Amino acid sequence: MVDLNKMVRENVLKLTPYSCARDEFNGKTGVFMDANENPYGKLNRYPDPYQRELKNAISKVKGIEEEKIFLGNGSDEIIDLCFRVFCNPGVDKALTFTPTYGMYQVSASVNNIEVVKIPLTDSFQIDLKKADPFFSNKNIKLIFICSPNNPTANSMNYPDVKYIITKFNGIVILDEAYIDFSEKPSFIKMVDKHPNLIVMQTFSKAFGLASVRVGMAFSNPAVIKYFNKLKPPYNISAINQKAAILKLGQTEQYKSQVLRIKKERERLSLILSKMRLVENVYPSDANFLLVKVKNADYIYNALVDKNIIIRNRSSMVENCLRITIGKKSENDQLIMALKFISI
Ligand SMILES: Cc1ncc(COP(=O)(O)O)c(C=O)c1O
Repeated sequence: MVDLNKMVRENVLKLTPYSCARDEFNGKTGVFMDANENPYGKLNRYPDPYQRELKNAISKVKGIEEEKIFLGNGSDEIIDLCFRVFCNPGVDKALTFTPTYGMYQVSASVNNIEVVKIPLTDSFQIDLKKADPFFSNKNIKLIFICSPNNPTANSMNYPDVKYIITKFNGIVILDEAYIDFSEKPSFIKMVDKHPNLIVMQTFSKAFGLASVRVGMAFSNPAVIKYFNKLKPPYNISAINQKAAILKLGQTEQYKSQVLRIKKERERLSLILSKMRLVENVYPSDANFLLVKVKNADYIYNALVDKNIIIRNRSSMVENCLRITIGKKSENDQLIMALKFISI
């Protein structure tokens, strides 16, 4: 069993967090003369630092208690907090399965943490044999698992993820940014059983609020407490909290958009797989496709010339392009443009 207090950095354990006016009094009515706000206007007051109304709405949708939810300025803030809570700069390490989402490495570098990278297998699964010896390495504090994975689009095998959560004595961060596009189950309910598990989701993908910057972490209340200790007091603006609350009320819109994206994913995948330029379209549990082509650099540039912007992921997977599923009309534009590219 993981002892969380032993995992947390000494300075974080000792830290006295900033106490803001809304920490001392959080009632909604009264004459507020405690936070040096301007008394005029509609956006003049500081937002709720713990985003209680939004967490209450998330708790109902996700079926998890509010005290097990943390909200960050995008998942990226949560990734950074994981390093700051658990890793001593220059000493501790993190482990990732590559290729994967780039922010784990960037955040690690910002915090002066070395990343051990275990390449995924040919079918983009976790290579447990190679990874296993690292699970008992005392300096490895964090393991990031991205499932469905960016950029490979597939989900990691459920038993493999479960094995790592059980076997590893550090913190496992399971990034489920794309879970809504997958038929596979989320690990969110497992946080009750595993105190070392942090499941991340986001409002940026299926909820369509990338510009709003709200990322979610689900974990046991002790981990959430440390995140709250370290975060800037007002990390989610009142406008952004409102936007996320509103979105959670639009269930039908959310469902129909996810369905449309999944249908377009299948249609685009089928059409692309028959194209002369395409060598393979990998199976996708996400809102994008990883496509192996004959000459990725050439096709990428040819599409840019036609004002169609995709992602060239050749540096991660040889000759591979990552294509986000657009609206039907946008996907048709891409298909048409590809038809006119000759290599
Ligand atoms: C796997 C993964 N996690 C997290 C994010 C970022 O999420 P957010 O917008 O909540 O910071 C992305 C963005 O592309 C992603 O691919």
